[in-house]
Amino acid sequence: MKTEWTLKILWGSLLLAGLAFPLVASAMEMEDCLGCHSEIDVVGEALLVDAVKFEHTVHAELGCATCHSSVTDEHPDDGAAVSRADCLDCHQEVGDQYMQTAHAENATCGDCHDPHQAHGLDAVSASDMNEQCSQCHENAAVVEQHSEWLPQASLHIAKLPCITCHTSSEEYKIVLHISQKQEDRALSGYEISKYEDLKVYSGAKEIKGLIDINKDNFISLAELRTFNLNPAYKALHLDGTLFPSEASHDLTTLDNRYDCSFCHASGPGSMQTSFLALPTPDGSFARIDVEEGAVLDALYGTPNFYMTGSTRSASLNIIGFIIICCGFIMPIGHGTLRFLTRKNRKH
Ligand code: HEC
Ligand code: HEC
Ligand code: HEC
Ligand code: HEC
Ligand code: HEC
Ligand code: HEC
Ligand code: HEC
Repeated sequence: MKTEWTLKILWGSLLLAGLAFPLVASAMEMEDCLGCHSEIDVVGEALLVDAVKFEHTVHAELGCATCHSSVTDEHPDDGAAVSRADCLDCHQEVGDQYMQTAHAENATCGDCHDPHQAHGLDAVSASDMNEQCSQCHENAAVVEQHSEWLPQASLHIAKLPCITCHTSSEEYKIVLHISQKQEDRALSGYEISKYEDLKVYSGAKEIKGLIDINKDNFISLAELRTFNLNPAYKALHLDGTLFPSEASHDLTTLDNRYDCSFCHASGPGSMQTSFLALPTPDGSFARIDVEEGAVLDALYGTPNFYMTGSTRSASLNIIGFIIICCGFIMPIGHGTLRFLTRKNRKH
């Protein structure tokens, strides 16, 4: 009786495995494929797969041949075309949602995602995501279009993921990145620090330790402040922005995104949830929880906090002043982020 069940389960799981991972024509392993496909001299630019980036995706667990099942042991000498899996074979739910949007006529999954570098929302920065969009929505045109109603459109477009305003999500989170001054940059002059940039500061130690002093994988208000006030890090700066909690694919324009107070106000409780996103060696990001409400606390706990005059340029000050006069309260965008970055603006 017992063995019968064991057998059934065994057959069952074999069958399931067979369904999920169609039998493949090749015994080649991922390492074999990458042996050629990560070498530009062997396969040329167009067929190159970045081995480090691929190995850090969840897709790597599938192995190459799961998605390229027609590949044979004689490849590439057989000259046969290699099959490519359809994203929808495995991502039916995302597909169902996306295919209903008007946008589905304009872009396929592969236009926005490289299957060999696919990451989830929590492992990418706003600028990485926006690069996907700017392949078709040319940045200057987007800025111009948005500046009809959005002051500082170029700053907003640079700092916010397009999908914060163009997809729906039940909740939104504040995500902090460490950035540093780039002399060659126009706009605000700060760019998100890469892993190697932060290694310069942390030396042999983990870069996490720059902020997470007690290494408990949690950033407290005190740790945020300590980081911010440390003169050794004066070229670094914390940049916060608003991310959707989930990556939905219902690309649309959300009505309430004209409403400045959606972001520039003390906001609903959910927005008090924040993360620090630290760069990893493969170019993606790993998030660490920040103390609930710490970002807002940092703001309200500071008696000498001010907004106008703390901005980077005269024109921003004027706009800031006009906004205050118009009665907008903007602690989240300016307050928190301004507070967290104020040391950089003092000099
Ligand atoms: C999750 C599925 C998936 C996995 C895993 C996968 N690929 Fe792909 N691959 C695709 C798809 C889909 C395309 C077609 C992309 C396109 O046309 O935009 C593709 C395209 C390619 C191409 C053509 C060049 C290109 O980038 O369009 C090569 C070469 C390739 N894959 C090699 C590999 C190798 C080597 C591995 C393992 C290291 C691998 N693939 C793993 C899905 C996958
Ligand atoms: C010995 C080196 C080598 C190995 C190993 C190798 N490839 Fe290739 N692959 C090539 C070359 C060279 C080409 C270009 C062939 C051509 O243009 O005729 C190619 C082409 C491809 C293409 C594009 C061909 C098309 O039909 O569009 C894919 C996809 C691909 N390989 C996937 C794989 C996968 C998956 C593996 C492992 C299972 C693998 N390759 C192993 C050298 C290799
Ligand atoms: C053979 C099955 C399979 C195919 C084909 C496939 N994926 Fe995936 N993909 C997965 C699995 C499994 C995961 C991890 C669980 C999840 O997020 O659904 C995943 C995760 C992802 C993620 C999130 C990665 C992360 O770290 O959270 C993205 C983005 C993604 N896939 C995009 C694509 C795109 C685009 C295609 C088509 C080019 C594709 N996938 C084809 C199986 C597949
Ligand atoms: C217009 C651009 C765009 C198109 C088209 C698109 N995606 Fe995405 N997708 C995104 C963005 C932006 C994210 C956020 C994370 C990222 O950038 O990788 C994302 C995230 C994902 C994720 C991870 C979800 C998570 O919870 O983090 C999966 C899986 C995914 N996409 C699959 C697909 C599939 C399958 C298709 C085709 C049906 C598709 N995407 C088409 C832009 C797009
Ligand atoms: C492969 C090209 C392509 C990519 C990539 C792409 N789009 Fe589009 N998108 C289009 C085209 C074409 C249109 C229709 C013409 C237009 O309005 O510019 C469009 C329309 C839109 C619209 C207005 C129509 C609507 O559905 O409300 C929005 C908003 C939009 N895209 C946002 C995005 C965002 C956000 C991204 C990145 C996550 C993105 N697009 C990536 C091609 C693309
Ligand atoms: C602060 C919120 C916000 C951000 C960030 C944002 N958008 Fe928009 N976007 C809007 C709103 C609101 C509209 C509708 C404007 C209108 O009706 O004139 C819009 C309109 C558009 C349109 C034109 C839609 C149409 O009906 O013609 C496109 C395309 C678009 N956005 C793409 C993008 C891209 C790409 C990005 C990122 C680079 C982006 N947006 C960032 C809020 C935003
Ligand atoms: C989706 C969220 C979002 C929306 C909606 C939004 N903003 Fe912003 N805003 C931001 C972020 C994030 C920044 C960048 C803060 C920083 O890093 O300095 C910003 C910056 C600004 C700045 C630059 C001033 C400075 O301190 O550098 C002004 C002015 C501004 N917003 C006004 C507005 C107005 C007016 C509206 C409504 C028409 C609006 N914003 C809508 C998120 C938003």
